[in-house]
Amino acid sequence: MTLGLFDDDQPAAPQAPEWLEPGAVVLRGFALPPAAGLLQAVDAIAAQSPFRHLITPGGKRMSVAMTNCGPLGWVSDRSGYRYDPVDPETGRPWPAMPALFKQLARDAAEAAGFAGFAPDACLINRYAPGTRLSLHQDRDEGHYAHPIVSVSLGIPALFLWGGAQRADRARRVPLLHGDVVVWGGPARLRFHGVLPLPEATHPLTGAHRINLTFRKAG
Ligand code: SIN
Ligand code: FE2
Repeated sequence: MTLGLFDDDQPAAPQAPEWLEPGAVVLRGFALPPAAGLLQAVDAIAAQSPFRHLITPGGKRMSVAMTNCGPLGWVSDRSGYRYDPVDPETGRPWPAMPALFKQLARDAAEAAGFAGFAPDACLINRYAPGTRLSLHQDRDEGHYAHPIVSVSLGIPALFLWGGAQRADRARRVPLLHGDVVVWGGPARLRFHGVLPLPEATHPLTGAHRINLTFRKAG
């Protein structure tokens, strides 16, 4: 019998939002309840539109493996970055965005103060230890009225939260399984990235981190 003196067997209390700046917030553990279902859905999506390493316009192979679901998918090749309704690798539309994904994105955006978020693109990033994502802005959407919702699953990463200019000093924000970052409004075009992941394993993902990035692109 436990006397409830220790917290280990208690459900985690909802954690307070951690504001990075106005318009940008880390919601710790927000995606824990649906996490296993999200990862099952990622497997089903990747069975239709496999993870692949895209080539940048400059000809480099990205170390992060990517796929997409939803009406629009983010892709990169020699000709540039774009959103495409068709997976260039399969020639078919991207797999549909699961209802669970849409609901989570909507709820997280609302918790961050952006009500009514209805993403039409979900980029799925898969990181292995050593994989990184250099500082960039999300600016291929053509309009910036809608926030970005970014869900972390699996092994931990250090997220870089920069400023309006690439050279601005970037904060290092640890992101764990189930954490969600939302940024929009005045923070929508902030530079951000991910430091090379250390070796680790997670019971649900093995030696991988899965990131879901929801956007309104069309
Ligand atoms: C991204 O910027 O597309 C992904 C960020 C992350 O993996 O946390
Ligand atoms: Fe990004």
